[in-house]
Amino acid sequence: MKNDFLDDSALKGRLKEFAIVERIYYYKEIDSTNTRAVRLAQYGLQHSSLFLAEFQTKGRGRFKRNWLAKAGESLLFSLALFPSFPKEKWSGITLLASVAVVEALGKFGIKGAVKWPNDVLVGGKKISGILIETAQPGDKNKKGSAIVGVGINVNQESFETDAAFATPPTSMRIETGKEIERIKVLCEFLTSFSRLYYSLEAGDYRDILKRYKGFSSTIGKSVALNSSHELIHGTASDIDEDGSLIIRLDSGAMRRITAGDVAEIEWK
Ligand code: BTN
Repeated sequence: MKNDFLDDSALKGRLKEFAIVERIYYYKEIDSTNTRAVRLAQYGLQHSSLFLAEFQTKGRGRFKRNWLAKAGESLLFSLALFPSFPKEKWSGITLLASVAVVEALGKFGIKGAVKWPNDVLVGGKKISGILIETAQPGDKNKKGSAIVGVGINVNQESFETDAAFATPPTSMRIETGKEIERIKVLCEFLTSFSRLYYSLEAGDYRDILKRYKGFSSTIGKSVALNSSHELIHGTASDIDEDGSLIIRLDSGAMRRITAGDVAEIEWK
């Protein structure tokens, strides 16, 4: 199954049931699905679209890290969404994306956990990374886009990763001992993602936050992080409505940290 290419016609058949995917852009090779989605959204794309690649020559992670993956072994995709709800609520998309990954993994018997803000880990190793970006078209009458870029390690047995990632990687294959059809993982992700996205659209943020907290491996931990060149020590006590992390500092004071502030969290 090493080369279960996610070719266009097979994809179109399987993805028909997902109304959230109005358009599919499939690439054997591309620089980065996020880069392409951002560019098209800037140029006026208005249909919610799935950008999917077998291989990325410049796959991007958070904080300018490289997302490296050999061709055909993992899932590399970006969903360009055009939310009808106000921008203040877009942070919910960050939370629900990692919940959807954890729920999809669960369907294959893998117990994932979310390391704030949206790394998905299994037994302390990283199985998925998420990069969320926004794009605004030049024409202000057109809708802005939230681009949800997801990398899920599916059939890798070995890795080449950017040394800037402190967490070691794992894959679904390593965790289960089995090769897994990538399209099945994608469909499980989209099932969970669509349901949560529609509930966010309907204004129900609480269910997403509750699920996110339920999967969080950060809450309750002693954490150390570098925020704006300042080293912060404390205990991760909660996630707020914006998806920010609330930390009780060793001094007893509370501190709110947004995802953009921190490249990597360490815990004891
Ligand atoms: C991270 O862990 O820092 C985020 C990694 C996100 C990787 C995915 S792979 C598909 C999409 N296209 C990219 O260039 N990046 C995201």
